[in-house]
Amino acid sequence: MLTFYCQGQKGKEYNNSLLEQLPHHIKLSWETSPENSQAVSWRTRADESKSYLEYAEATASPFFEDQIELIEPISESYESEDGLWNYHSVNLQNLKPNTQYSYRVGNKDTWSEWSEFKTATGKNEPFKFLYFGDVQRYIHSLGSRALRQAVLANPDAKFMLFAGDLIHRGGLNQENWNEFFPAGGWAFQNIPTIATPGNHEHKWADKETREVTPLWNLNFCFPKNGPKGQEEQTYFIDYNNIRVISLDTSAKMTTEQKQETYVWLENALKEFKGDWVFVTFHHAMAGLARNRNPDIRFPEIKALLEKYKVPMVLTGHEHLYTRGRMDADFPVYAVSVAGPYQNAIQFSDWIERAGTTMQLYQEIHVSENQLKYVAKTVLGEIYDAFTITKKSNGELQFEEAPDLPIESLIPTKDFEKRYDKELIKSYESDKAKYLQRKKQ
Ligand SMILES: [Fe+2]
Ligand SMILES: [Fe+2]
Repeated sequence: MLTFYCQGQKGKEYNNSLLEQLPHHIKLSWETSPENSQAVSWRTRADESKSYLEYAEATASPFFEDQIELIEPISESYESEDGLWNYHSVNLQNLKPNTQYSYRVGNKDTWSEWSEFKTATGKNEPFKFLYFGDVQRYIHSLGSRALRQAVLANPDAKFMLFAGDLIHRGGLNQENWNEFFPAGGWAFQNIPTIATPGNHEHKWADKETREVTPLWNLNFCFPKNGPKGQEEQTYFIDYNNIRVISLDTSAKMTTEQKQETYVWLENALKEFKGDWVFVTFHHAMAGLARNRNPDIRFPEIKALLEKYKVPMVLTGHEHLYTRGRMDADFPVYAVSVAGPYQNAIQFSDWIERAGTTMQLYQEIHVSENQLKYVAKTVLGEIYDAFTITKKSNGELQFEEAPDLPIESLIPTKDFEKRYDKELIKSYESDKAKYLQRKKQ
């Protein structure tokens, strides 16, 4: 935190941090339809217990004060390791589709700046969104560049999708949420977030519990249309012609609850009448980090994804890049990483493209008959790309982009220290076999 000594008032210390003074961690998400609602959540310091949201239809004129509506949020105080805070949220409803709104949050003389969002059109038209794997560690120092570069290159993305492990310790603000939200800066105020919880959002301060951290629900407003007990963790959001389904693969569940989740998933896949379904969950369908079990993690989910020919599944957890299909033509499984913490890979035989020791983000372009997926490094270079086209008979066709760069298969930093001797020794020969297989 910045502290300054004021000239003329030598010795008097005052807090000059905007983070402390103004409402902050302001972000957009969806609890209900993106066509006519927008959720906003934010945090204020302990003594700012009253905070409000003001909004109006956006105008180029700055003189819109007569149009402003004032909304009282749902507010909750919460004590975390960095002190007592107030968390606020509003789900703005009855908005017009395809309409830009301006909003700010605060009270008296501590208002945020005005920011804009635009509701979804509800129409079938081309758009794109961003997908990020784990940001998780060294968020301020290095994770931030993935967010920044992705948004700078795609200011018109309709939302940012995070496939879990946004942070490392879900129950802590310092080094975690206090770095994550500033890393996205004002982008979070203008572009809605969709996120699925990872195992690290299920880890509290210093104890391990399988419950999702209270900071998940305090920070975000996601739909409550999931199975009972999984609200805001397992859910779906329909944005124009696509459905995004989030499955919380870290939740502690009884056999009955798992069964309920599979039934819920099947319904969510079956009933959707739009063009494309994306499923996101945190754990890659199979372990890929070199020291992890490579078996299929969720056979019941995999069977449903194949049965309903889900085109694309967006995941993380492995801290490396992988794209491939398993026992069916679809889904295409993507596993990515946005942050700097990296793992070495095991070259499983379903991998069609791999990448290690790199920070990435993905652009996903949606149109009625085609999905175009592009993975880029944080320098903006294309690392992977493919399309999925819907033919006139409804069949899906996968096509990898030509001229992709040579795969980056450098083992991670400290590889020799972090992995067992056997895994280190076999690395080069496994890699050679992998490259050989791909040549054929
Ligand atoms: Fe994870
Ligand atoms: Fe992770």
